Amino acid sequence: MSKDILLGVNIDHVATIREARGVRYPSPADAALLAIESGADNITLHLREDRRHIKERDVTLIQQIINVPLNFEMALSDEIIDFAIEIKPEMCCIVPEKREELTTEGGLDVVGLEAKVKSATKKLVNAGISVSLFIEPDKDQIDAAKRTGADAVEIHTGRYADAETEDETLVEFDKIADAVEYAHEVGLRVDAGHGLHYYNVEPIAQLEHLHTLNIGHSIVAKAVMVGFKNAVSEMKKLIRNA
Ligand code: PXP
Repeated sequence: MSKDILLGVNIDHVATIREARGVRYPSPADAALLAIESGADNITLHLREDRRHIKERDVTLIQQIINVPLNFEMALSDEIIDFAIEIKPEMCCIVPEKREELTTEGGLDVVGLEAKVKSATKKLVNAGISVSLFIEPDKDQIDAAKRTGADAVEIHTGRYADAETEDETLVEFDKIADAVEYAHEVGLRVDAGHGLHYYNVEPIAQLEHLHTLNIGHSIVAKAVMVGFKNAVSEMKKLIRNA
């Protein structure tokens, strides 16, 4: 990663593992602290309307213990907007949300929802929260984002990450590169994320004018692998010494 680009670590999927069993571990708060120890520049989490992973208590606990900004991902929902205004994270990122989706699919249609996005943005900005809109790499969406009063956009890198051929990857990469330039030119902070992993992040991290990359799933997946040996040997030792 170029030295100027920050890394936001999304810890949602630590909570996904916990919720798969309905138990108390692993703790997203512990993961947040370990992420910060290892260089995370923000902690990102998404309080989904169905609360499938992160819960309110995770958000409030994490907010109390971290010393880097909290980037709170949220849908355009009155209930969640009220919660955000109550807890005042440093940043909110407004994302589209459908209950049936596996993860956030596609960017927010700021063009189609401009009045609603503008009103939500105003409430959040008035509460002293920096607002980012998660959008596809598209000039019209960037222009609309600027008009809402948001101070940042997060460019959705999902199509780039999901591209199946080299040509398709290049096409999607160019769209992101152009969008980053354009959003920077119109005066927005530009972040990016979704689907970035250890084999596709480098070209994106070379883009000038990108402020932060927010990455989650691949980091949690990697953590399982790099931690597996220790986890097994610790259990083996307990059993052997019992
Ligand atoms: N940025 C936004 C706005 C997201 O919604 C997500 C997924 O929650 C991410 C970044 C991280 O995506 P991934 O888990 O694929 O790295």
